[in-house]
Amino acid sequence: MQLASVTVDPAFVVGPVRRRTFGSFVEHLGRCVYTGLHDPAHPTADVDGFRGDVVDLVRELGVSTVRYPGGNFVSGYRWEDGVGPRAQRPVRLDLAWHSTEPNTVGVDEFVRWARRAGVEPMMAVNLGTRGIQEALDLLEYCNVRGGTALSDLRRGNGAEEPHGIRMWCLGNEMDGPWQTGHKTAHEYGRLAAETARAMRQIQPDLELVACGSSGSGMPTFGEWERIVLSEAYDVVDLISAHAYYCEDDGDLASFLASAVDMDHFIESVVATADAVRAARKADKRIHLSFDEWNVWYVKRAESRPPAGDDWPVAPVLLEDRYNVADAVVVGNLLISLLRHTDRVHAASLAQLVNVIAPIMTEPGGRSWRQTTFHPFALTARHAAGEVLRVAIDAPVHDTTRFGAVPVVDAVATYEPDTGGLVLFAVNRSTTGPVGLTVDLRGLPAPQIVEALTLSNPDHTWTATADDATTVLPRGNPSAMRHADGMRVELPPVSWTMLRLEFPE
Ligand code: AHR
Repeated sequence: MQLASVTVDPAFVVGPVRRRTFGSFVEHLGRCVYTGLHDPAHPTADVDGFRGDVVDLVRELGVSTVRYPGGNFVSGYRWEDGVGPRAQRPVRLDLAWHSTEPNTVGVDEFVRWARRAGVEPMMAVNLGTRGIQEALDLLEYCNVRGGTALSDLRRGNGAEEPHGIRMWCLGNEMDGPWQTGHKTAHEYGRLAAETARAMRQIQPDLELVACGSSGSGMPTFGEWERIVLSEAYDVVDLISAHAYYCEDDGDLASFLASAVDMDHFIESVVATADAVRAARKADKRIHLSFDEWNVWYVKRAESRPPAGDDWPVAPVLLEDRYNVADAVVVGNLLISLLRHTDRVHAASLAQLVNVIAPIMTEPGGRSWRQTTFHPFALTARHAAGEVLRVAIDAPVHDTTRFGAVPVVDAVATYEPDTGGLVLFAVNRSTTGPVGLTVDLRGLPAPQIVEALTLSNPDHTWTATADDATTVLPRGNPSAMRHADGMRVELPPVSWTMLRLEFPE
């Protein structure tokens, strides 16, 4: 068996565990909203038509923020179509996903859903087909208490209290040629800066996210961030990053190493933002909102939007079914986000329901957890206190996309008050187990509270509505303490969470 070790020291603090790391994303896309969140005919539906079974799963998932309403959708969206009496709301073409948008759900319903689900809404404005005025109108509608045309319109629509939305995305993926209203970095940087400046005139303490790159492979990656931040540095707080990964051409080893790309992506954006900071002689730092990340089999037929005269309402789109290897990658991407908690201040798993999602639903019927649900839910529930950088000593193996990578990746969180330590680790080997020694420097002998591992001899096992429970994270009986720490065996293609305490 291959051997590896991680050294954990409570002095190696990266920064706090941020609840916003565990955000997600709801777009008017496919069946995410309609028959996902919203299904008035469902037996668990509330007065707004939102499914109670889905709300329960969202709560179990431990999601903090939810970005809305897109995504590519937002770049053609008219927010005012989705407010007021339902019968009077216009039906529109959604160019982004070649669908028909009925506007049954809009900002007021979404905010009511978010309150019920216990999540913080994060709003995106349309800077594709629209601009500063419409962003200001939406902000006035949402956040001004009353006494103005649009705040009183909201009150008249039943929302007496302001929605109080603090985080706002200034457009979506404006670097992408597929985006309605796609812009150059200079064009977008100016528009983002002027929109941010104007929005802050209404509410100075907003947290504003400028669009970064929609992938580290974009030809403009790096330059885009530099130019956009050169225009907007003083008036935005965060810059976004988006990344999707999948197993291409059966290259499992590269896929399992996807977090190497996420690490590189984050560190490159941080370097660019800090270079702009240095050039401007600014004190302020720009942080990252990794507000779209996941596994997405983008080339599969289910990602292809309808075409021609076919403009369906809520078509089946991007409904990827995830296997055990996909879940291990999701767990590893969370490890990457956590270890950069000093600079990644928000993140959104894209998306929440049905569309490349951890939660699936049948219209009017069952809902279930995909494999990717479990590492997300367990990390969101148990990562607490401070993130600790761990020193990893592991064998490396070769991958086609990323060269030689360590087979083990890990991060730890530690709560100084309670003494609770949680280690999250993956074994990226496709062939064999790894014996992992955890060296707990500066800490007494641990008590193992829980050792859970997600793995399966067949890593292609996929959850379905009929069987979502045969493969779940299960107790790992190999976890054993010793004088300086503990030892555990990590099966190939696996994700593990170890919860430790240190009795006096
Ligand atoms: O999440 C699916 C799509 O991926 C979003 O609409 C877009 O922002 C990204 O390209």
